[in-house]
Amino acid sequence: MKEKLESIKTEALEEILKCNDEASINNVRSKYLGKKSAFSDVMSNMASLSPDEKKSVGMVSNEVRNAITEALDNRLKAIKEEELNKKLESDKIDITLPSNIRRSGYLHPLTLVREEIEDLFISMGYDVVDGPEVDSDANCFEMLNLPASHPARDAQDSFYITDDMLLRPHTSSMQVRSMLANAEKKPFKLICPGKTYRRDDDDATHSHQFSQVEGLVVGENISLSDLKGTLELFAKKMFGESREIRFRASYFPFTEPSYEVDVSCFKCDKKGCNICKGTGWIEILGCGMVHPNVLENCGFDHTKYQGFAFGVGIERVASLKYGVTNIRDYFINDYRFLKNFDRKEI
Ligand code: PHE
Repeated sequence: MKEKLESIKTEALEEILKCNDEASINNVRSKYLGKKSAFSDVMSNMASLSPDEKKSVGMVSNEVRNAITEALDNRLKAIKEEELNKKLESDKIDITLPSNIRRSGYLHPLTLVREEIEDLFISMGYDVVDGPEVDSDANCFEMLNLPASHPARDAQDSFYITDDMLLRPHTSSMQVRSMLANAEKKPFKLICPGKTYRRDDDDATHSHQFSQVEGLVVGENISLSDLKGTLELFAKKMFGESREIRFRASYFPFTEPSYEVDVSCFKCDKKGCNICKGTGWIEILGCGMVHPNVLENCGFDHTKYQGFAFGVGIERVASLKYGVTNIRDYFINDYRFLKNFDRKEI
């Protein structure tokens, strides 16, 4: 019996070594230790043995059972470890792979500049108002002292929708709207940013759609020096101390006197280049004292009230600030261009 047990053990241990998965371990376990195994046969024959034999066979059978059980357990453990290692190997994360960069949106440069201008004027007590992009001939021209014969009223220069309605060619229409809306004739300061449209041939510095910020201050004792002081502050805030500014006498039907304000060219620094068309200066805004006719047209007594107004081209300001040489870049939504305006870097 003892030999039988020993041979069961040898056979079992050999088979255990060949097991490569949990199922075969279970098979071997029931084959050698289960109810119908050779081992249990031996055990059931124990009853016929003498007490001494029982004792010694019992010891051997215990030793054999323990040896087989231990071998099974160890092999199972090894198999599981192997499986885990294989899994770890196949699921390995390569931390050197490039990650998926989450792209976030950026504010458009024109939005950035518009907000900067708004912040500046808000800090000086101005209201920011919004107006319609389609407006009447009266608001765009008539009330602004533009005689019917004025070339700017020509359909060649503006986009007319009906005989009387057009895409506003400037934000100055908001001068009329805001004065007419001010029934109590209270002094006020406002800016109106927005899109404007003209029948320009598109090139590096012109676009049929562009944007302006209109400024209008109406009150008593408003003088030209208020206008100059305001615009000087504006220019300094937007372009820094190194850019030069000049006021050039000009003409607008709705202001008297009128000026164009130029800033020295950002590209050539006044030497003359394609951006400034050889002049060294770039016009950024038109301005002047509100024409008495306009005040009167809008219900303000010109002997009591004065005002100043200005219109700034946002694209021009943005180009100066960011060195953009082609105005088309603002409108074609090229991500490579837009991503330069990540707010964190500005
Ligand atoms: N509306 C003028 C333009 O578009 C600019 C301007 C605004 C001039 C206000 C004077 C006063 O060119």
